[in-house]
Order: sequence, then C-alpha cells, then structure tokens
Amino acid sequence: MSDDTQLNETLAAIDAADDADALEAIRVAALGKKGWVSALLKTLGGMSPEERQVEGPKIQGTRAAVADAISAKKQALDDAELEARLASERLDLTLPAPEKPSGSIHPVSRVMEELAEIFADLGFTVATGPEIEDDWHNFTALNMAETHPARAMHDTFYFPDKDAEGRAMLLRTHTSPVQIRSMVENGAPVRLIAPGRVYRSDSDATHTPMFHQIEGLVIDKDIHLGHLKWTLETFLKAFFETEDIVLRLRPSYFPFTEPSVEVDVGYRKEGNRRVVGGNGDDPGHDWMELLGSGMINARVLEFAGLDAGKWQGFAFGVGVDRLAMLKYGMDDLRAFFDGDVRWLDHYGFDPLAVPTLSSGVGERA
Ligand code: PHE
Repeated sequence: MSDDTQLNETLAAIDAADDADALEAIRVAALGKKGWVSALLKTLGGMSPEERQVEGPKIQGTRAAVADAISAKKQALDDAELEARLASERLDLTLPAPEKPSGSIHPVSRVMEELAEIFADLGFTVATGPEIEDDWHNFTALNMAETHPARAMHDTFYFPDKDAEGRAMLLRTHTSPVQIRSMVENGAPVRLIAPGRVYRSDSDATHTPMFHQIEGLVIDKDIHLGHLKWTLETFLKAFFETEDIVLRLRPSYFPFTEPSVEVDVGYRKEGNRRVVGGNGDDPGHDWMELLGSGMINARVLEFAGLDAGKWQGFAFGVGVDRLAMLKYGMDDLRAFFDGDVRWLDHYGFDPLAVPTLSSGVGERA
C-alpha cells in the first residue's frame, strides 16, 4: 500500500471514530511504537543524505497530518460529550422540588422564632449582644459589685486575660447584659426582647454548660408591676396556645430588679408530661417555677445613664430550652445539644413552615 493511501485511510478512520477508545486504537496503529508512521520514520536511518532530504519532510508531514487530525477529533469528541452531559443534567428550576427538603429547624431556633413573632406583635424589637462579655456589663452595671455574693452563684467561665480597659472577660452568664448595652446605646423608651446563648459551669439532666435565655426589657414613664404581669400572661397564652394560663407571683431577689418577682405557672401532669394551664392550687394541678423578673433597680438605670427619676420599667428572663421542653414534650435537656439526626428528625420543624400568629405559632405543618 502506498504511503498516501495509508494516510488517507487513517484520516478517514479518524474522521469516522465515534468515541475516545476507537480514536486511541487508531493513534496506536499509526503513531504507536509499532505503528506504521513510526515504521516510516525508522526508514529515514537507512537512507542516504540526499534521499533523506526528499523523504524526511514528506514523512514528517504525514506524521503531523495524523497527529493534528487525532487532536482535532479528540477535541470534537470532548465537546460533543460535554454538550450531551449539559443536555442530560439540565435542571429545570421552575419544577417543584422532587422530595421533601431534608434538614429541620431545631426546636430551640423554632421557639425563638415563635417568641420573636409573639413579642413583635406587642411592639417589641429583637436585640442581641455578645456572648463574650466583660464583667462590667454582665455584673457590675447590673448592680453586682465585685464583692457581690450573687457573682459567685453564677458559676462563671472566665477568660485568662482582661480586655483593653482592664475588665475581666467572661462568657455571659445571662442575657441581662443586653439590657445594659441597649440602654447605653439607645436610651429610653425601650421595648425589646434579647434571645441568645448563655453559659454556666453546670451540667446534669436539666443543666448544660450552654443554654438559651430570652430577656425582656420595657422602659417608659409610669411602668408598673401590672404591665409586667399582663405582658407575661399575654406572652404565655400565645406561646402555649391556651387562654387558661394562671400565674403566681412570688417575692424574690435579683440584684438588678427591685422589687423582684419569681413567676410560677399552673400546670397538670399527663403521664410523665407537664401540661401548662390551669390554677396550680386546683386539684390535680401544681405550680412550676418559670421565670425571674422584676422592676428595674434604679441603680441599674443610673449605671446605664438613664434618669431614674424620669424612667422606670420591668425586665424578665426565661429559659428558652425549658419553654421548648414544656411545649413540645422533651424530657432530657442534654439531647438538645447532641446533634443526633434521629432526635432532630423527630423533634425538628419543617424549615418552610415559618411560625406566624395567624396560622398559630405552634403549628407543626
Ligand atoms: N438574669 C436572671 C437569671 O439569669 C433572670 C432575670 C432577668 C431576672 C431579668 C430578673 C430580670 O437568672
């Protein structure tokens, strides 16, 4: 077979190859160690210089023609494969999702959303503060001087170093420092809630070193205990979705409120579960301690730069994890933070079902 015929056949075969394997076989047969083009190249060695001057460029031209045709074909095959993949993997974003979305909203996040919804309806804004606090915001400005015994009761996690102003740094032990930050920053009047993580060195079935609180703060003129009680009743009725909420207010002590009020709510037992509702003094019922609250201590207003002769208000602090357990029936707080997918599948919420007052904040959808 003449070299030209062989070249034409090879080029035709390259043109006809319909996948990478066929193309590779042609390449080996032509340019491989034992391929016909390689064999031609080898004949150059036995030629006289004159012959080589004529044959050399021809043979190199053949080699280049085959190599170029193969690489052009390879590119064409790659392009076609990409086109086919793009066509087959095409995503129609206008179609509905094929399955239920995976993942769920943690009950703590859910309850915080519910609380924000309930309090927004009462005209409260949502404030946040840092989890790494200094001892002035966490204690001193809340009327807990360095030697105050209440500081020791908080089982505080301290950092080894002080901040630039020489203040001890710590993980906040409650959300109350957000009271101070918001008053210092925005003055009065105030109507806010502050949900978030808090930390205490404590751990058993009902205590974890990190847990969640929500702080409420209202400051205005002529605010009194009646406003506090109404606000708590209204919030608990909406949260537990029952009109039958009975509160019991007991005198208590917090350095930052005066007077201080511990709030109990009536409940009854259903099996192992506590169901909030009813008068705790009625048969089959009892009282459960729910939250701490009180009228803001005048010293706290002054620490935060407000005129205590003009402004007054109330504050409350409540455990969010505790609220979630009561409403949705979990009994071990530690499971909240294990990240066990089975627990989340069971107790988690549909991410698309956002709580709203009109649809019922407790709707599981
Ligand atoms: N900060 C208090 C606690 O963590 C709760 C509280 C908040 C009490 C606001 C009164 C007013 O125990």
